[in-house]
Amino acid sequence: MNSKPATDPGTFWDERYADTDYIFGQEPNQWMAANADLLTPGLRALVPGDGEGRNGVWLAARGLDVTTVDASPVGVDKARKLAAASSVTIDAITADLREWDAPEAGYDVVVLAFLHVNADDRTGVHRALARALKPGGLLLLEGFAPDHLGTGKGGPPVKEMMFTEERMHEDFAGLLDIEHLEVLHTELPASERHGGPAIVLRLRGRRTDP
Ligand SMILES: C[S@@+](CC[C@H](N)C(=O)[O-])C[C@H]1O[C@@H](n2cnc3c(N)ncnc32)[C@H](O)[C@@H]1O
Repeated sequence: MNSKPATDPGTFWDERYADTDYIFGQEPNQWMAANADLLTPGLRALVPGDGEGRNGVWLAARGLDVTTVDASPVGVDKARKLAAASSVTIDAITADLREWDAPEAGYDVVVLAFLHVNADDRTGVHRALARALKPGGLLLLEGFAPDHLGTGKGGPPVKEMMFTEERMHEDFAGLLDIEHLEVLHTELPASERHGGPAIVLRLRGRRTDP
């Protein structure tokens, strides 16, 4: 998809996930949960950058058919353990999304929760993941907005890796009908590593007909 990454997100996140605790907790992402009515049993869901698996496992418990992809082998192992402990099945893949071939039109739902890749890679990754949706398929995205930097915990170290409305329009141009797009001040749950006051961008879109 893109050139070989200069940085290695797998190693970076392996170190953070080394603890037995689930550093983002086991509760689902707030924005995904707010759209629960749209996440119905039997849908095929792709959860790129699912880390320790909280979102994939929550979707699987709702009866969706779930594939997760993450660059961190330690995170993927914890995701599999969380699925087993929750008596659900997920297909948890270890891969760098900058190189992973996302199947075109393979999924009804794609959920992106705080997946921040390098600025140079973001558009390519986002476009490939939007193309993984069937026509009419649902994409939910939440991540930090640039104004979060210096005001809250966690998030990428540089504003270029964060999300603005303009960047989302560029990334998904011609691929998504955007139904909801906002930057807001919110409070992330204390159970999450970046819990507390936060400035985030939330997007909900539907795959256009190719
Ligand atoms: C901030 S964590 C969020 C984890 C999860 N989405 C959640 O909300 O609990 C970001 C995750 O994205 C993954 N990630 C970052 N860049 C990636 C890449 N290029 N390919 C695959 N996974 C990546 C990391 O390994 C990490 O698990």
